[in-house]
Amino acid sequence: MAGLYFHFPFCRQACHYCNFHFSTQLKHQKEMIDAFEKEMQLRSEELPHQLDSVYFGGGSPSLLSPQSVERLIVGVEKSNQFQENIEITMEVNPDDVSYQYLKDLQSAGVNRLSLGIQSLLDSELKLMNRIHNSDQALKSIEWTALLYDNFSVDLIYGIPYSTLSQWMSNLNRILSFDPPHLSTYALTVEPQTVLAHQVKNKKIDLLDEEWVKSQYDGLVERMEEANFEHYEFSNFSKPGFNSVNNSNYWKGVAYIGIGPAAHSFDGRRKRSWNVSNNKKYLKSIEQGVLPSSHENLKTHEAFNEYLMTGLRTQWGVSLHKINQLFGDHYSSYLEKQVEDHLIDQRVFWDGDVLKVSKSGKFLTDGIASDLFLLKN
Ligand SMILES: C[S@@+](CC[C@H](N)C(=O)[O-])C[C@H]1O[C@@H](n2cnc3c(N)ncnc32)[C@H](O)[C@@H]1O
Ligand code: SF4
Repeated sequence: MAGLYFHFPFCRQACHYCNFHFSTQLKHQKEMIDAFEKEMQLRSEELPHQLDSVYFGGGSPSLLSPQSVERLIVGVEKSNQFQENIEITMEVNPDDVSYQYLKDLQSAGVNRLSLGIQSLLDSELKLMNRIHNSDQALKSIEWTALLYDNFSVDLIYGIPYSTLSQWMSNLNRILSFDPPHLSTYALTVEPQTVLAHQVKNKKIDLLDEEWVKSQYDGLVERMEEANFEHYEFSNFSKPGFNSVNNSNYWKGVAYIGIGPAAHSFDGRRKRSWNVSNNKKYLKSIEQGVLPSSHENLKTHEAFNEYLMTGLRTQWGVSLHKINQLFGDHYSSYLEKQVEDHLIDQRVFWDGDVLKVSKSGKFLTDGIASDLFLLKN
């Protein structure tokens, strides 16, 4: 099975924390859709054929008209087989949508929405330079819950000046809409963002790590109480609502990324990525040349990546799989390297599968990087 991802690189306004690839110059949207179709033709040999997920991400794909979305879905289906129950997700910004728009998206073939809510507090939305306000956020969830069985809400915690009780009331309000999936991210200061500049110039004080941790702990506890499966560090779902797109990525399944800055993976060792520049992307595709670069992961890089993604999930990291994929040198290395974390009970063995314990959860990325093998 495999997934297909479209990166639609336009946004109405730049959020201060975001370093995804996008442009606020909206004028080349039509050419972009044409280029997506042409890129699919150019890569027809590479297309996965049997798909279980199509994902419209960005940027802000909810700038696309339902007609354009339908055109792209039909285009994908021409050269690929859609598995029964294929997941077709679109990231949606609350300010872009109306009830009718969401309904039309459904008619166009979209069956899952990922709503970029981030917060329900106007002061926090302003601080992050989100273009929407809390009323728009609430309306978009209300409409989505009426129309879609399958949808997800994105929230950000650890926002400067936020308190635990504000965060928990944000979360509880979201849960009152009964979303089957939630993605929650700690606010990260990415280089070359307005936020990074504001922090550097002391215009904004970041929240202390221990406060961020208390918000994460509150989240995990509340989601457990609400019977969500905590299937990945940042992702929670009701039974049967894991995101196919995200799970494919964590399980090392092949995916193909269409559009500027989109990444692809062949399911083995080859990664490729398109140029992160709309003009260069459009020009190159117009000339029939793929604007992409690639790398073949070395064994230790693939091993490190398996550790990083595996430990973040509830499925953990399997010694059997490591033996199969990388050889027993790697499994012996892991068994030795993990000893201190086992003693501190941050991780545990579930049969031959290494998993992160509840007390180690917040430290997952640090634990994984401690276990990395740095050279072959
Ligand atoms: C591709 S982005 C945005 C999708 C959509 N344009 C939106 O803004 O809602 C996907 C998610 O990543 C998260 N995100 C992006 N940058 C982040 C950062 N610096 N810190 C924490 N979360 C971030 C946001 O929650 C966002 O909804
Ligand atoms: S968070 Fe979403 S809307 Fe904001 S700049 Fe990034 S991609 Fe665009």
